[in-house]
Amino acid sequence: MRILAIETSCDETAIALLDAKGCLPAGRQGLTSPRFKIIKSVVSSQAKIHAHWGGVVPNLAKREHIKNLPIIFKNLRLKTYDLKPDLIAVTVGPGLEPALWTGVNFSKEIHKELTTKNHKLKTKLVGVNHLEGHLYSFLLAKNYKLKTKGLFPAIALIVSGGHTILLRMNSFTKRKKLGETRDDAVGEAFDKVARMLRLPYPGGPEIERLAQKGNPDAIKFPRPMINDKNYEFSFSGLKTSVLYYLRDNPEAKKENVAASFQAAAIETLVTKTIRAAREFDAKSIMLSGGVASNAALRHELKIKCQKLNVNFFVPPKKFNTDNAVMIAVAAYINYLRKKNLPIRARGSLNL
Ligand code: KG4
Ligand code: ZN
Repeated sequence: MRILAIETSCDETAIALLDAKGCLPAGRQGLTSPRFKIIKSVVSSQAKIHAHWGGVVPNLAKREHIKNLPIIFKNLRLKTYDLKPDLIAVTVGPGLEPALWTGVNFSKEIHKELTTKNHKLKTKLVGVNHLEGHLYSFLLAKNYKLKTKGLFPAIALIVSGGHTILLRMNSFTKRKKLGETRDDAVGEAFDKVARMLRLPYPGGPEIERLAQKGNPDAIKFPRPMINDKNYEFSFSGLKTSVLYYLRDNPEAKKENVAASFQAAAIETLVTKTIRAAREFDAKSIMLSGGVASNAALRHELKIKCQKLNVNFFVPPKKFNTDNAVMIAVAAYINYLRKKNLPIRARGSLNL
């Protein structure tokens, strides 16, 4: 099955074309061994434009998506008809609504061109939940093998600029949210701490770079809710601690602040994820979302998984931050689940 996917939920304009196969519904067992061959994947980041404002400006994002979508599409260097997609998948939420609409409208136009006018293809247009894109991106992990045995139950941690969610997955199709952040998402905390340190947007990669030169034990920042017996998170207190620390210690070494903040955030995420894996006897842990491209977080969780003897899946870094390949992957899984979302932008859609 050929899938053309479009992602415009935030400040990345992304289009991907891929072939998906090998995954047939296996009775009540759910799905088995999906396989993907990426034909094209383009991500055009608007980060430089938004950096000037210190964060994403929705209407600027909309303007840029409208400008970029046809250019990227043209650069695929294939005529729409020659692509002959079976599915066109578009992110419908969550995200910035003006930005989401640009992708939705663009996908409708392409769909119309293919299914009416001269071509009359049977291409279907499907809506995709951006968070399911992140969730299923573990299928792109290098160590995810076909017919990986004993995948479930699994614990999935989604860490992005807008979300911090811990889930239990009993199969590809059955899942339960265990907890999420009560205030700031962890990526948002990285971005805000970066601003306090006068680092450019997006802050996550900047904090990571600086942290490599600092001492993670230099400052003991709080690990919010780490001992609570639930799977909720909270990062606004940690962010405020950094603010107060910088106010009271204006001479502090930025490297140590970055390293100590990062260590506090990572310890909180890893501790709760591992606790969930123990409680639910998980066979795998999946990590996804923009913050999952943080090498220290990947490393910590990988080490803990090895000790616990569970599979650890994280996609290559380029598929952690927003992209359209993960949207195509989620579209395929949902196609097999026969689960369709309406083609309408919904900013606050959840899992
Ligand atoms: O998934 P994503 O690209 O967009 C959303 O769905 O939100 O995640 C973006 C978030 C930003 O907050 C960014 O600062 C953070 O991911 N991020 C990182 C790193 N790379 C991106 N956070 C920590 N370390 C990184 N290397
Ligand atoms: Zn995302």
